[in-house]
Amino acid sequence: MRDIRDLVIYGAGGFGRETAQAVTALPGWRLLGFGDDDRGRLGDTVDGLPILGDTKEIADMADACVVVSTGSPADYDSRRRIVARLELPASRYATLVHPAAWVAPSSRIGPGSVVLAQTVLTASARIGAHVAIMPHVTVTHDDVIEDYVTIAAGARLSGGVRVRAGAYVGTGAIVRQGVTIGPGALVGMGAVVLQDVPAGEVWVGSPARYLRPAPHRKEVR
Ligand SMILES: CC(C)(COP(=O)(O)OP(=O)(O)OC[C@H]1O[C@@H](n2cnc3c(N)ncnc32)[C@H](O)[C@@H]1OP(=O)(O)O)[C@@H](O)C(=O)NCCC(=O)NCCS
Repeated sequence: MRDIRDLVIYGAGGFGRETAQAVTALPGWRLLGFGDDDRGRLGDTVDGLPILGDTKEIADMADACVVVSTGSPADYDSRRRIVARLELPASRYATLVHPAAWVAPSSRIGPGSVVLAQTVLTASARIGAHVAIMPHVTVTHDDVIEDYVTIAAGARLSGGVRVRAGAYVGTGAIVRQGVTIGPGALVGMGAVVLQDVPAGEVWVGSPARYLRPAPHRKEVR
């Protein structure tokens, strides 16, 4: 018989709830509930699942695997901070890929990463740890998506794109082949990115241009 493992999703917001729904389509997991930073929500239920505690309580649940599923564009550094507080070995993190996503056998996905339905990884894509990939994202040949990156729904990355650690690619953005999105940068919804985006900057539009500094520019590596 197939092993069933316990799972906790850290973050009971929009992306956490989407991840919980994806888990209903994945055999092998018993979803115990959510972790959340807001201790006022302890004992509440969200979509029928309890909030079990904050990072301290979740880290102490030694038999449960964890994914950190926060993905708000308003605070897209949150996954990195939560993972730092949890202080868990990589073996405690689940990697969740919705069965309706297609991951080429030559692609790799790191621990703690979540890939939602209809996303495609075509060939030799490398996805780091604690990466959030929302539905209908197209990741093509040789793309490299580093740790803590968030790619929102419907974004399309041409071949050989590199998205550096902690960056955010907004809904429906399109990125030209070979371009690098710098660490901690944010690309806005619908942007058409034709050139490299420097670290810690927000770029929008078609063609994408500088809008303002990103909020996490001091934290990025
Ligand atoms: C880029 C973004 C972060 C900017 O947010 P913001 O700093 O609050 O910016 P504002 O809404 O105040 O807009 C500032 C200016 O940028 C423009 N702008 C904002 N977002 C834009 C976008 N995606 N494309 C083009 N222009 C944009 C606004 O029209 C405004 O222009 P103006 O000064 O000429 O009026 C935000 O609009 C965005 O795209 N976030 C990503 C959302 C997303 O992908 N969510 C998915 C998961 S929930």
